[in-house]
Amino acid sequence: MSFVVTIDGPAGAGKSTTARAVAARLGLLYVDTGALYRAFALKARHAGIPIDDDAALERCGRALDLVLSGSAEAPRVWLEGVDVSEEIRTPAVSELSSRLAARPVVRRRLVEIQRALRARGPLIAEGRDLGTVVFPDAEVKIYLDADLATRALRRHRELARRGMIVPLDEVRGEIASRDERDRSRVDSPLAAAQDAVRLDTSGKTVDEQVAAVLEIVRAHPAFPDPAGRAGRDGLDD
Ligand code: DC
Repeated sequence: MSFVVTIDGPAGAGKSTTARAVAARLGLLYVDTGALYRAFALKARHAGIPIDDDAALERCGRALDLVLSGSAEAPRVWLEGVDVSEEIRTPAVSELSSRLAARPVVRRRLVEIQRALRARGPLIAEGRDLGTVVFPDAEVKIYLDADLATRALRRHRELARRGMIVPLDEVRGEIASRDERDRSRVDSPLAAAQDAVRLDTSGKTVDEQVAAVLEIVRAHPAFPDPAGRAGRDGLDD
């Protein structure tokens, strides 16, 4: 079984930024599991499937043609041959993905897809239930958190970078209610695994976050160093 690093935590905790940088530095496959939930939501929305129609959601999941491609620096998400990397980031899709993520029929299918990715080699995956449910035997588990004000500001800026100007208050309300839903659902709620290392990223720079995670991963005795670079290319921290 491949070496796995999981990063879980609420929206805006810095999971994607950190996981992508660590993946690039260590030569790990980067897996954004939130993108899978978002792409599922987009497909369900296009098909007009009601949120509680489990039979239709199951059919939707079975026919899901979803591909994660690109690099850790520039990951892309393809749904039925169309690049939906930007379309899945709208606030409406965020909200729907969180609602659908509470449906066991949706989770079952997406967990299956996530576990199959392990065959591709050492990976770093980020989401909500990776250390608890998807990869309970992961070698390294991290739980990232930050206070709500910090997380809202980060998400607000990320949306602006993507050309979506959403008032900060609205973003704060959106992520607070999404986190509450993700934490309180019955199936695979957002939670830190008991054996996860907890890091609070409030007030930390991206470089500090990345350095902290790199140190934890490299210190693991089973770390395969797939990029073969530790101590050799001057990129070490
Ligand atoms: O990480 P994100 O904000 O892109 O995730 C979007 C939604 O998908 C999130 O609100 C909850 C759901 N999700 C999940 O339930 N489990 C995961 N492993 C990843 C995401």
